[in-house]
Amino acid sequence: MSQSTSSRSTWSNRWAFILVTIGSAVGLGNIWKFSYIAGASEGSVGIFVVVYLACVALIGLPLLMAEILIGRRGRGNPVVAMLNTARESGNSPWWALLGWVGIFGALMILSFYSVVSGWMVDYFWHSLVEGVQVGTPEAAVAAYDELMSNPLRLSFWHTIFMILATGVVARGVIGGIETANKIMLPLLFLILVLLTLWGAAVGDMPTALRFMFNLKVEAIKPGVVLDGMGHAFFSLSLGMGAIMAYGSYLDKRTSIGNTCVWIVVAGVFIGLLCGAAIFSLTFGFDLTPDTGPGLMLKTLPLAFTHMPGGRVFATLFFLFVIFAAWTSAISLLEPFVSWLTERYGIRRARAAWATALPVWLLGVAVCLSFNDWSEYRIFDRNLFGVLDHLATRFIMPLSGLAIAIYVGWRLGKVIVVDEIRLKQRAFTLWFNVLRYVVPVGISLVFLYELGGTALLIYVVPAGILLVFFIIKQVLRDWLK
Ligand code: PHE
Repeated sequence: MSQSTSSRSTWSNRWAFILVTIGSAVGLGNIWKFSYIAGASEGSVGIFVVVYLACVALIGLPLLMAEILIGRRGRGNPVVAMLNTARESGNSPWWALLGWVGIFGALMILSFYSVVSGWMVDYFWHSLVEGVQVGTPEAAVAAYDELMSNPLRLSFWHTIFMILATGVVARGVIGGIETANKIMLPLLFLILVLLTLWGAAVGDMPTALRFMFNLKVEAIKPGVVLDGMGHAFFSLSLGMGAIMAYGSYLDKRTSIGNTCVWIVVAGVFIGLLCGAAIFSLTFGFDLTPDTGPGLMLKTLPLAFTHMPGGRVFATLFFLFVIFAAWTSAISLLEPFVSWLTERYGIRRARAAWATALPVWLLGVAVCLSFNDWSEYRIFDRNLFGVLDHLATRFIMPLSGLAIAIYVGWRLGKVIVVDEIRLKQRAFTLWFNVLRYVVPVGISLVFLYELGGTALLIYVVPAGILLVFFIIKQVLRDWLK
């Protein structure tokens, strides 16, 4: 099933690849999720932010490089890329299962991601045609609740969003994804910078920054630390085959290390800028960083209502959010679509719409889980909560863990060195972090879900092992 490499298209240049990967990384995770998780860790938001940043650097960056490495070496969709690299390195073809896990995890995320994106399209549309008119916090909450209680309205906007995302994937990687990103990303930066400047002028930026970076070490809770780590995963699109699929279109000459640094810096910068803008507005208008997924939609429209030119800004803001979500959704759909086209030679457009249909259906069920079906619960979670929980808390960390083990321990140094052309010291650092720090770090996220006690039992031996291995490795490399 080895793919011919000559027929496979590549990004038109390195910047195109960086742009689309930033497009995948920056999305609802940075805007909608970041603000409500940060808001929920009241008292230790600074810890959350710092842990998130540390995890992006220590787990996210090395894993991002590993995923791109597999995609580029394997030259195919995640399944084929895993299969090709496993064969080349004499490993079991069963590793291809990892590709499948990513592909289905991505589709699962897309089903609820599209629904939440639909909320943004709804708010965009209303800001555009009638302006935001919510005079009091109660009215803002009521407006959000009204949307949540209406399955038809939720499904309608979810459908519109799915059509947007599928339309781009149907046009193909070079024709669709690259063009869309080239237009969307610069616009997205522009709108965000404007919004942050405006937030600083009208809102309360000092309080927002104090809120985001206030490091109260005494307030540190295990939940916050692990939340920060989990968020690093989601916000960098890791473990879902999305980055692997994009990496497979990357040409041989581009340096993976440099490229990834750009992607991570841009992703973090946009996330922090967004957080600063959102919290600056929140505090400037005396709103509280509420908890739950509704935070952004319950607070921002209120702020927009009370500001001069608020309607224009609200419209621009939601437009920006839709752009960001759109580019992420594209990367969630791409892995399976490229598998269908490469495996069965199905036309891209047909493959894209055929994939979108079941995802859309599941999304409709997610829309219903907020209202008519809200009494159907598993572990006290509606379908939306179950899908989000399963994908981000279990599939992503497990898949990331397996990728770190695969590249760090199974692929063989020859292949790894050949793809990651870093200077000796930088390579040793990256490789060791991937082999030791990443697996242990990810295991912490996963075990946290199993319970605090399991975590404690695990943390102590893992910590000792980690220190031991790092010392051994460093000594070995230096003695060489
Ligand atoms: N990183 C995206 C966001 O922050 C979500 C995503 C996750 C996209 C996994 C692709 C794969 O919104």
